[in-house]
Amino acid sequence: MDHEQTRRSFLGKSLTILAGAGAVVTGWAAFRFVFSGQGAKHRGGPLAGEAFSRGDGPGGSGPALTANPDGSFSLAADAVPQGFSMILALGAVPVMVLHGDRGVRAFAATCTHLGCLVRWNPDTNLFECPCHGGKYDAAGRVIAGPPPMDLAEYKVEATDQEIRILMA
Ligand code: FES
Repeated sequence: MDHEQTRRSFLGKSLTILAGAGAVVTGWAAFRFVFSGQGAKHRGGPLAGEAFSRGDGPGGSGPALTANPDGSFSLAADAVPQGFSMILALGAVPVMVLHGDRGVRAFAATCTHLGCLVRWNPDTNLFECPCHGGKYDAAGRVIAGPPPMDLAEYKVEATDQEIRILMA
C-alpha cells in the first residue's frame, strides 16, 4: 500500500467514525427533546404582575382529560393549582396551561420557529424555547430570537371545579 492509499484509507475511516458520532449525538438530542416536555408538569411562576407561589405541581402521570363534543377539553380545576404550570397534550396539540392568581391561561406550547416545545421559566417569567433561544413574554408575544409569530392563546373557562380549554 503506497502513501496515497494509506492516506485515503485513513481519511475514509475518520469520516466514518465522525458520521457515526454525529448520528449518536443527533439521536440523543432527539430522544431528549421528545421525552422532555409533553405531559410534564413545570414549577409554577408568575404571570406578569401576579404573585405566585413556588413548587412542583401535583404528582402522577398527568390529569384526566375529557374531550368534549365541541372540540374543547376539560380537566379538574385542582389538576393545575394556582401557582403552577403544566404542558398538556390536547388531542395532538401541546398546550401550556398557567394558573396565576388572576386565573388560568392556555397557550400553544409549540414554538412558532421550528416547532420545539417551549417551557415556562418562573425565574424570568418567560416562555423559552430550548432549541434556538426564542423567548416569549407571559402574553405569548415574541420578545427575542427567531420565532416569526407569537404563541397562540386559547380561550379558557374556569370554575372552582373545572378548567375548560376551547381549542377553536
Ligand atoms: S424552534 Fe424555537 S427558536 Fe427555533
